[in-house]
Amino acid sequence: MNLKIAVVPGDGIGPDIVAQAIRVLDKVCQLNNHSVSYETVLAGGAAIDKVGVSLPPETLEVCKKSDAVLLGAVGGPKWDKVESSNRPEKALLGLRSGLGLFCNLRPAILYKQLKSACPLRSDIIGDGLDIMVVRELTGGIYFGKKGKSEDGNEAYDIMSYTRPEIERIARKAFEIAQKRNGKVTSVDKANVLETSRLWRATTEEVKKDYPDCSLDHLYVDNASMQLVRNPHQFDVILTENMFGDILSDEASMITGSIGMLPSASLREDSFGMYEPIHGSAPDIAGLDIANPIATILSIAMMLRYTFSLAKEADSVEAAVYQALEDGYRTPDIYTDGMIKVGTVGMGDAIVERIK
Ligand code: NAD
Ligand code: IPM
Ligand code: MN
Repeated sequence: MNLKIAVVPGDGIGPDIVAQAIRVLDKVCQLNNHSVSYETVLAGGAAIDKVGVSLPPETLEVCKKSDAVLLGAVGGPKWDKVESSNRPEKALLGLRSGLGLFCNLRPAILYKQLKSACPLRSDIIGDGLDIMVVRELTGGIYFGKKGKSEDGNEAYDIMSYTRPEIERIARKAFEIAQKRNGKVTSVDKANVLETSRLWRATTEEVKKDYPDCSLDHLYVDNASMQLVRNPHQFDVILTENMFGDILSDEASMITGSIGMLPSASLREDSFGMYEPIHGSAPDIAGLDIANPIATILSIAMMLRYTFSLAKEADSVEAAVYQALEDGYRTPDIYTDGMIKVGTVGMGDAIVERIK
């Protein structure tokens, strides 16, 4: 197979973690006789510095012509004063909406080797954790009308959802649940928000087509508490854009570190964008200590969802498992007695273990 990948390294730790993910993809392709080509494009702060805009039109064009996009992270304090329409983060939103990627999958899996890196008590965490957060990605408050008054004393961001937008993401969540434990928990704020009341009613309607699945609803404040009180009550969490952003960062910490959580941003065809859920981590950029596993596991998701290469995806996940089993740890997941490595060292350990 020929894999055509657009690469958006971005800012901060982005280029470093993407470099390790590319090594992994190269190795897996080499071992399985696939050819892979990369086209690296600019977005975020790196694009502002080079060409003045955070999302150059060529970047979107190259992504559209590829099979899949691999993205590091965008943003950082250097660009915090850039006008809002040209911020680095706006480029990411432009890619998501420009590519129609409404379905964001964020699997929170606690590897058994990292139980001691998980901040929850061992009696709470038990045998581990495996939750899939299904986050709506191209609607809600992120994409509603926004603005501020001339005197700068008032600002607004409008949150809106349409029934079709909710229906399509709900269907994705139920389809995923069917391949898991069939349990969907929809998270909203229906006690306060109109959008959430539409969300709740629509998810109930969609559920009728999935009699083999269950659907429960939780308010987002309660859900964020339940996630640390008893994470095992969750299988698939279905939620809107902003709640999904917040809950997935919370869930990531249960897996030991935000540096462990990959993501796939999908639409109805096989195209996808793959990125870690974390940001550009300006506080550790350039130090060779960022954990590349979230990005490497995003490669596994790419192989699985875009290319239907399940065996190759399994081999990437198995290599991550084995590197952890053999004791390799970046500082964010380090515990006593383990082997401390940096970004490149973790890349080495994983690449060597791909079979
Ligand atoms: P962040 O996720 O970048 O960092 C939060 C904390 O987690 C930091 O202490 C950081 O060092 C740590 N961390 C993150 N990734 C790590 C990794 N792989 N290994 C070890 N530690 C890791 O969030 P932030 O500091 O709020 O945001 C920094 C910038 O990134 C902002 O400009 C923000 O807008 C942007 N951001 C971008 C994305 C993205 O591109 N997808 C996601 C989130 C934030
Ligand atoms: C993420 C990030 C983005 C989001 C930002 C950078 C726009 O936090 O991918 O989780 O809020 O979706
Ligand atoms: Mn986020």
